[in-house]
Amino acid sequence: MSELPDADVTLDALPSDHLKMTASWEQERLFDVVVVGAGIAGLAFALRLPEQTRLALVTKGALGESNTRYAQGGLAAAVGEDDEPALHYEDTLIAGAGLCDPEAVRILVEQGPAAVDWLLAQGTAFDRDAASRLELGREGAHSRNRVLHAGGDATGFEIERALVARIRERHIATIFEHATALDLLVQDGRCAGIVMDHADTRFALRAGVTVLANGGCGQLWSVTSNPPAATGDGVAMAIRAGVTVADLEFTQFHPTVLALPGGAPFLISEAVRGEGAYLRNRAGERFMVGQHPLAELAPRDVVARAIQAQMVPDGQPSVWLDLRHLDPAEMERRFPTIARHLAAQGLSLTRDLLPVAPAAHYFMGGIDAGTDGTTSLPGLLAIGEVSCTGVHGANRLASNSLLEGLVFGLSAADRLDSVAPPATGISPARDGHRLPALPDEETHALRTELQAIMSRDVSVVRDHASLDDAEHRLREIAERIAGRAIRSVPAIELRNMALLALAMTISARNRRESRGGHYRSDYPATDPALDGMHQFVLPGNRRVFRSLAIGRQVADTAVVP
Ligand code: SIN
Repeated sequence: MSELPDADVTLDALPSDHLKMTASWEQERLFDVVVVGAGIAGLAFALRLPEQTRLALVTKGALGESNTRYAQGGLAAAVGEDDEPALHYEDTLIAGAGLCDPEAVRILVEQGPAAVDWLLAQGTAFDRDAASRLELGREGAHSRNRVLHAGGDATGFEIERALVARIRERHIATIFEHATALDLLVQDGRCAGIVMDHADTRFALRAGVTVLANGGCGQLWSVTSNPPAATGDGVAMAIRAGVTVADLEFTQFHPTVLALPGGAPFLISEAVRGEGAYLRNRAGERFMVGQHPLAELAPRDVVARAIQAQMVPDGQPSVWLDLRHLDPAEMERRFPTIARHLAAQGLSLTRDLLPVAPAAHYFMGGIDAGTDGTTSLPGLLAIGEVSCTGVHGANRLASNSLLEGLVFGLSAADRLDSVAPPATGISPARDGHRLPALPDEETHALRTELQAIMSRDVSVVRDHASLDDAEHRLREIAERIAGRAIRSVPAIELRNMALLALAMTISARNRRESRGGHYRSDYPATDPALDGMHQFVLPGNRRVFRSLAIGRQVADTAVVP
């Protein structure tokens, strides 16, 4: 095996404020379990716990407003008559580009059908055909039609609706809405809960088990399919607490987000291409034909790069998605949400060419976690997009994200054998001198600047020079935040975004190859020596490339004193 770049690059040069955890609060509450995040992973976990659990559910917006809600295409599971988990397994490994953890993928695909039954039992109404069989769509890199959908293209909305209704009906949790988690509480080498901001008050929620299910970080880029709350809070909290994170260099860019000049980004589901839509360039050519045997349904990283290659040479802001050859009535039935959104912009789903471009969509990296959610910090679980179980490798297969949240949310709750009593005796630190707060306008300007840096330099295609430049400019942003009181929610988010963007940029510079969502124009080939090698960021921000099993051992030895 060739020499791996076991990195000496650390975040040490960051102003130490960025690695300091919040240690002051005004009120305390005690629970058995605290779950941060109320998308499919957090809600499935919560609903599966024993009834008597004293549970707190913390969500940044109103309950029901999560990244899950915006998922259009659907949820992949091998439930079709011509399908089986072994085929789903193969497709997931191929899309993952040599970086999936095969055991995690096996659990995901094998438990998928039973997890779908559970979701149906919670009242989720997936679309059905005339014979009342579940209707199954196709998306990129799937060898079978296996994508369950609801309301045509409102799958996430329906799942979120059903799970929230169950949570409310069963009164199983104390729900903190519009509450932002700031930091983990760590005591004697265990996670002891969180510090949270709620109604302008700082709370310590102490718990025997803390679950981070607070999703992704698309807001690190200027153009994203994610809602505004997706600011990478969970991963940043983990880094500050010295929890092992992994594969930060892997972000998935969705190929087809509506790109109207001056308009807000809006996802145009891959299921649209699954129904036969074409991608065309300025000359009207189907440029994916000949680039990949699956043409428009090639893995997302392949399609996103091909689109970028069409756009870059002459500065085109988009390519075009074409449904004009498809049955208009059927397309309106399958994609009512998209059709409505387009109509509001003066576009027809089936008569117009639709301008689309890649946008940040999904984070394959995250908190290093087993399929039971366990992390390097006892008492802390991570599930869903915030975690990195290795199930997506270097590039997630379409519609495997809702499945991941569901399967690992349920299995983490099932495998939680005991809940330690919440720790007592942690006292808030005294607020010493009052630091000047970061003003709102400056917070907003820094957020916009950070997004512009990431969009230019840490995007679909990167190289050493762009990553160096990004690191330099991101450090400047970090310096400007340091020494300021982090009081408002936008300031909390900005602090998280700056830490994660830096950690991600350094990880991307460290991986000197191209693989899945991480494409380096200066290292365009995949390095076989890095097959199955994950980049772990250990406590103290030491970086190592290891296979999953060995990496977790290294992480364990690093955290146990
Ligand atoms: C889509 O509908 O294209 C997004 C679904 C996914 O990211 O898996």
